[in-house]
Amino acid sequence: MSVEQSIAHQSLDEIRAQALNEIKTAVTAEDVQELNTRYLGRKGVMTQVLRTIANLPAEERPAAGRQANQVKQQIDTACRETLARLAAGAQHLERLDVSLPGRSAAPGGLHPLTRITRRICDIFTRMGFEVVEGPEVESDYYNFEALNFPKDHPARDMQDTFFVSDDIVLRTHTSPAQPRVMEKRQPPVRIIAPGKVYRCDSDLTHTPMFHQVEGLLVDEGVCFGDLKGTLTAFVHQMFDEQIKVRFRPSFFPFTEPSAEVDILCVICRGTGCRVCSQTGWLEILGSGMVHPAVLENVGYDTRRVTGFAFGMGVERITMLKYGVDDIRKYFENDIRFLRQF
Ligand code: PHE
Repeated sequence: MSVEQSIAHQSLDEIRAQALNEIKTAVTAEDVQELNTRYLGRKGVMTQVLRTIANLPAEERPAAGRQANQVKQQIDTACRETLARLAAGAQHLERLDVSLPGRSAAPGGLHPLTRITRRICDIFTRMGFEVVEGPEVESDYYNFEALNFPKDHPARDMQDTFFVSDDIVLRTHTSPAQPRVMEKRQPPVRIIAPGKVYRCDSDLTHTPMFHQVEGLLVDEGVCFGDLKGTLTAFVHQMFDEQIKVRFRPSFFPFTEPSAEVDILCVICRGTGCRVCSQTGWLEILGSGMVHPAVLENVGYDTRRVTGFAFGMGVERITMLKYGVDDIRKYFENDIRFLRQF
């Protein structure tokens, strides 16, 4: 082996070892670029090596040249791989930038309908009512029959009621809570029953599912004045102490006499506006003295006890409290809407 040959061979192995080691341990992409130029550049180490090879005896040149090209290839590959690794690492670091301020989880909030339902229940609980709940899939008996709906009553019509089968329905109101509770307890009974109800109806002011809160009080000597006093107290606590309340004759099969409760429009204070359809009044709930037939259906002695009942739409009260006039907003789950409450 000639001196030149030995130098060339030795230095090739050495050059390769050193180059690969330097490239692998490079910390930045710039370092790699620099090494690339240093080894493979026009004035780089390998160019010089190839020049040395040109001076070798003819028979040695091919083998030495092949080896040198192999080393160039290896250095080139090492540079590419290291660059790719550094780039991936940089991305990784970006994702885990520990210097970024923490992202706190947004605290959850109660849906406006939940807030108002709770507020309604709170007011009545403080008056001594107990909260109970009944099933949303209800029998025709509790939804209609026990509540004194005649067999041909329009409310049983397919247009309003979602029928599950001939005698199973999605409850159309929370009033089934009345016979369900009275069947199991003896007077005095004092309950409120919040929950979802269903009617086949859908427009700006109606959704097929909505919420009601039912109320029932049965005891000895309960009269219409108790109904008026209780509901007036409720309205004053729910809206404000000054708000005017009026009781307007109405009809429900399960109450007699029946009354719709209106409050003076919270928007225009009685002068007439879009929300109250220019009447100055807003209807907020239905009520009445429990019909004797309903008490008899549950086996109560109608000579001894009387009662009153009421039912209100939670969406309606929520709309009035918050001044939102499109009921569908409550069910779209648009976080920008819900955040405002
Ligand atoms: N259930 C009636 C409705 O949905 C409201 C109501 C309840 C009326 C209790 C009187 C007494 O319209």
